[in-house]
Amino acid sequence: MWSDTAIPDLAGKVALVTGGNAGIGLQTVKQLALHGAKVYLGARSESRAKQAIDSILSEYQTINKEHIIWLPLDLSKPSNIVEAARLLSSWENRLDILINNAGIAAEDFTTTAEGFEFTIAVNHIGHFVLTTNLLPLLKETASQVGSDVRVVTISSSAERFAPKHNVFATAKDLCDPGTTNPNDYTSRKTVFSRYGASKLANILFTRELQRRLDQEEVKIIALTLDPGPVATDGGMGVFPGFLKPVLKLVMKSPEKGALNQLFCATAKEVANEPHTYKGKFLSAPGKINPGSERSRNSELAQSLWRITEEALRTAGIS
Ligand SMILES: NC(=O)c1ccc[n+]([C@@H]2O[C@H](COP(=O)([O-])OP(=O)(O)OC[C@H]3O[C@@H](n4cnc5c(N)ncnc54)[C@H](OP(=O)(O)O)[C@@H]3O)[C@@H](O)[C@H]2O)c1
Repeated sequence: MWSDTAIPDLAGKVALVTGGNAGIGLQTVKQLALHGAKVYLGARSESRAKQAIDSILSEYQTINKEHIIWLPLDLSKPSNIVEAARLLSSWENRLDILINNAGIAAEDFTTTAEGFEFTIAVNHIGHFVLTTNLLPLLKETASQVGSDVRVVTISSSAERFAPKHNVFATAKDLCDPGTTNPNDYTSRKTVFSRYGASKLANILFTRELQRRLDQEEVKIIALTLDPGPVATDGGMGVFPGFLKPVLKLVMKSPEKGALNQLFCATAKEVANEPHTYKGKFLSAPGKINPGSERSRNSELAQSLWRITEEALRTAGIS
């Protein structure tokens, strides 16, 4: 079984983890820094980011204080994301690992200032804007001798709950991705349907990103994954609160929950066998899962990319 002891030495590498202040993201930041990487912790709240950084540094005094840095990042605000990517690209001349980890499952139907449904805005559109704006830096890093650049996007087996009628055909499918029933925007089924659509989008985005990178012969590996059921606030938040003590016993700890994304971001196996892993969905370290039939549909992936670009253009964001 792959574990954090298999993470190679990451000295000299630069990483960004979104949603790095809590849950699985926090454990990911910790392990990357413990293995020598300089890690940007993407978070929307300065106080939560600083608290997370302090907690890691006080637990592990061997980590260089300069090696965990808060990057202000609100994934529901595209212009803020563009600015975050600009800032990072001005501070660093390389980015080896991008982990698109942050995620929500909004209980209510709300939309962003641009009119995108909130769950898909944070989980998919925000990470689309972040990745595409960081691509010049990622590509520059990939062009260097001995590079091993990865873009890892966290999905979920909940991608199967994406509603069948949403085929990501028009930009409107990003405004109400979960339901067409105006009388039901808050049932559990609808919350899962919206979340599922965003997680299906995470897989389709990864597959299309990899196709584009391969077409341009850019040496970057894009991967996506399901961390499994993990006892984080987000992971337990979908169940009634009184179940928390039981859930903590049956779900994975955040430390174990971070292993799959750490494998995708750092494992030597991936670098040694790029053709095995490129664009793939992993359900455990080293375990490739085919995902739903729709998640493997390259036309759907291209359509999602196109409508996301169109929607952002309409909103005046590039
Ligand atoms: N836990 C599970 O069982 C499970 C299962 C399958 C997939 N996943 C996926 O794993 C990833 C991590 O989940 P988790 O369980 O660690 O969740 P979590 O504990 O709820 O953490 C979510 C992180 O996302 C951040 N975030 C939320 N909205 C944001 C925004 N607008 N801008 C920037 N950051 C934002 C949160 O920051 P704040 O503190 O500011 O809110 C937090 O750092 C997610 O993509 C989730 O969908 C989790």
